[in-house]
Amino acid sequence: MIGLVTGGYGFIGNQLAELLSNEFSEVRILDNLSNVARVVRLPNVHLIEGDIRDAETTFKALRDVDIVFHTAARVDVVASTREPFVDLGNNILGTLSVCEAARKNDVSKIIYSSSAAVYGNADVFPIDEMQPIRPISQYAASKYSGELYLAAYHSLYGIDTISLRYFNVYGPYQRPENAYSGVISKFFYDARSNAKIEIFGDGKQTRDFVYVKDIVRANLLAAKSKASGAAINIGSGVETSINDLAIKIKEMVPSNVRIEHVTPRVGDGRRSLADISLAKKLINYEPETKIADGLEKLSRFMS
Ligand SMILES: NC(=O)c1ccc[n+]([C@@H]2O[C@H](COP(=O)([O-])OP(=O)(O)OC[C@H]3O[C@@H](n4cnc5c(N)ncnc54)[C@H](O)[C@@H]3O)[C@@H](O)[C@H]2O)c1
Repeated sequence: MIGLVTGGYGFIGNQLAELLSNEFSEVRILDNLSNVARVVRLPNVHLIEGDIRDAETTFKALRDVDIVFHTAARVDVVASTREPFVDLGNNILGTLSVCEAARKNDVSKIIYSSSAAVYGNADVFPIDEMQPIRPISQYAASKYSGELYLAAYHSLYGIDTISLRYFNVYGPYQRPENAYSGVISKFFYDARSNAKIEIFGDGKQTRDFVYVKDIVRANLLAAKSKASGAAINIGSGVETSINDLAIKIKEMVPSNVRIEHVTPRVGDGRRSLADISLAKKLINYEPETKIADGLEKLSRFMS
């Protein structure tokens, strides 16, 4: 079996490629190296340096591939509001190009990294997949467009497709620069280097933090399952407040860390919590890493 990971040098992609290398005879990575988190060096993992927006390159990369794990995207909510056409290119055109290459190469399955951002600021919790889609950024709109293309290729050509809507992913190799996707890495980084953690607003806002190993395992479960044509939440099913998170991280860092509250950010939702019952039902997913254990692992990785 040959698996291909688009964006396989990214934060999630590199750990997915590593896991898949135990399951597939060959794992290909298609990555344009625009945001490398880690280079994967394993005997059966091969890089094809290229851009998913380039239909020809993507078509060639997918030759003889059985399953595509499509993680490549421009992942930055704030940047998407400034440069929406970059998201349109990478996330919408790029996803269409992956779908077309999959169709032409008779790929049997595409597993797409989508995002809980598609729900915007939900008002019913926990958030299940029947809740309205209300993107509040160009990034979120582009991720949902990708889901729609997958749905179209599923209906038209019978390609098995699954969209996995990740909640707030954290873990090793996540860079701290992007405060929206990497609040945990940022808190660790700021606590260690500046002995200070800054919380936007009162810190009572909550997020559903899911450890990256659970995310990559969900991809493998989706690959092995018979589920098709679905969009599925992948989270921890547990709500953690930003205040609790900051306190836990402060306790793990040797220096005397100050926690400060600063002006709230516009557009930050008050709550986030995934209903993960569909993931359990369709792909037998259950999170394995509790937040306390995930933070311990990340703390050891970062020190
Ligand atoms: N990190 C999160 O918390 C989170 C949450 C929800 C959804 N997601 C989704 O998960 C996926 C992976 O996210 P991540 O955090 O690992 O991102 P990342 O930026 O770390 O990785 C993306 C990878 O894709 C590559 N890439 C980007 N544009 C490309 C292009 N046009 N052609 C080829 N390669 C390209 C980059 O070089 C990088 O290696 C994304 O689709 C993202 O939308 C992430």
